Amino acid sequence: MSTATGHPFDLDRIRSQFPLLDRRVHDQPLIYLDNAATTPRPQPVIDAVQGFETRYTANVHRAVHELSGEATDAYEGARKSIASLINANRHEEIVWTRGTTEAINLFANSWGVANLKEGDEVLLTVMEHHANIVPWQLLRERLGIVLNVVPVEDDGTITFDTFIEHINDRTRLVAMTWTSNVLGTINDVAAVCRAARDRGIVTLLDAAQAMPHAPVDVQAIGCDAIAFSGHKMYAPTGIGCLWARHELLESMPPWQGGGDMIEKVTFEETTYNAVPWKFEAGTPNISGAIGLGAAATWLREIGMEAIAAHERHLLVHAMERLEDIDRVRIIGNAPKRAAVVSFLVDGIHPHDLGTFLDRHGVAIRTGHHCAWPLMDRFGVPATARISMGVYNTTHELDEFADRLLRVIEVFG
Ligand code: ALA
Repeated sequence: MSTATGHPFDLDRIRSQFPLLDRRVHDQPLIYLDNAATTPRPQPVIDAVQGFETRYTANVHRAVHELSGEATDAYEGARKSIASLINANRHEEIVWTRGTTEAINLFANSWGVANLKEGDEVLLTVMEHHANIVPWQLLRERLGIVLNVVPVEDDGTITFDTFIEHINDRTRLVAMTWTSNVLGTINDVAAVCRAARDRGIVTLLDAAQAMPHAPVDVQAIGCDAIAFSGHKMYAPTGIGCLWARHELLESMPPWQGGGDMIEKVTFEETTYNAVPWKFEAGTPNISGAIGLGAAATWLREIGMEAIAAHERHLLVHAMERLEDIDRVRIIGNAPKRAAVVSFLVDGIHPHDLGTFLDRHGVAIRTGHHCAWPLMDRFGVPATARISMGVYNTTHELDEFADRLLRVIEVFG
C-alpha cells in the first residue's frame, strides 16, 4: 500500500507520531479503540498548535503588527488546507465552528430559519447522532416544521428505495449522517444527494465520522453542505467546520453577531462581512483552526485512500475475531462500513465490559453513543463499541479480543 506521496504506508512511523501511544493505563500499554469519540493527536498537529501558542500568539484580521499577520496567515492557510482535503471549490466555503454540533446548529438557525416554514419537512434517518436531531426539533418548536425519519434495515443499511419513499413534495432538506458513529454504515450519500438535487431539495451531511476514514470529496458527492469536527480527525477539540456551496452561504443570513462578522456598524444599521467571515463572530479558536489545518495536511500526506485501505483491513480482522467469540452479537453489518463495530455480549452489561477492558489497558466506548433512537430501533439500551483509527494494528485487535474472552470467562 502506498501513500499520497508515493511512499509506502508506514504504520510504525505513523504510530511513532502519537505521544499518547506511549502511555500506560492501569499499568498496561494503552490500546485505544475509541477513535469515534475522539482521536489522539499526532506530533505535527501538536507542533502546529504549540507554534501559535508560543511563537506568534496574536489575534487574527485585526492588527498591522507582525505577529497578527503571521497568525492570520496560518489561520487562513488552515482554511485552504481543509478546502484541499475535501476538494471544496473555494476556501471561502469553509466556515470555522466549534465542531459538528455547532455547524449543524448554524445551518439550522441560518438556512433553516430563512427557508423553512410551518409544514415543511426535514428528512432525517434513524441513525442520526443527537447533534443532527435536536437542532431540528428546536426548529420544529419554533417554526412548526415536520421531521420525517428514514428507517434502517436489520443489517444497518438504509436502502435507496426506502429513502425515496420518504421524500414528498413538502421535503425541503435532507439532513443525514454520512457514516454512522454506532454501526459504521457508510450511507450512499452520492445517490441521496443526486435524488435530492433532482427534486430541488437541499442536502446537509453530518460528516463527523466520514472525515477520518475515507476520502471526502464534496464536489463528487454533490451535496450542499457538510459538518465535521476536528477532534475526530486527529485535531484539537473545540474546532470544526461547516462547508457549504458558496452561493448557499451567500444566501444565508448571519447567525451570531459580534466582531469580525461585520463590514460596518452604526446604531442605525450594520452591514456584514463577506462569506465565510460573516459566520465567524468574535475571536475564533485560532490555535484549533491551525491544528485542524495541520491535521488535514497530515491526512493528505498519508493519503485518504491508504487510510481507508488500512482501516478496511482492521475492520475485517476485528469482525473475524469478534465473530469467533460465542455470545457476541454484532449490531449492524452493512456491506459498506467504516472501522466501527458495536456489539453486545450476552449476559454482560456493556458498562461492565468497558470497565473490565479499561482495567486491562483497552479503551472502548459503551453507552447509547448519542444515538438514542438507533438504540431503540435495535431494542438495546446500550452497546459496547470499538472504533479504529489510522494508527491501530491487528495486534492491538488481537489483544482486545483476548481480553474480551477473559472478561467473558470472569463474568461466567
Ligand atoms: N459522537 C461521539 C461518539 O460517537 C461522541 O462517541
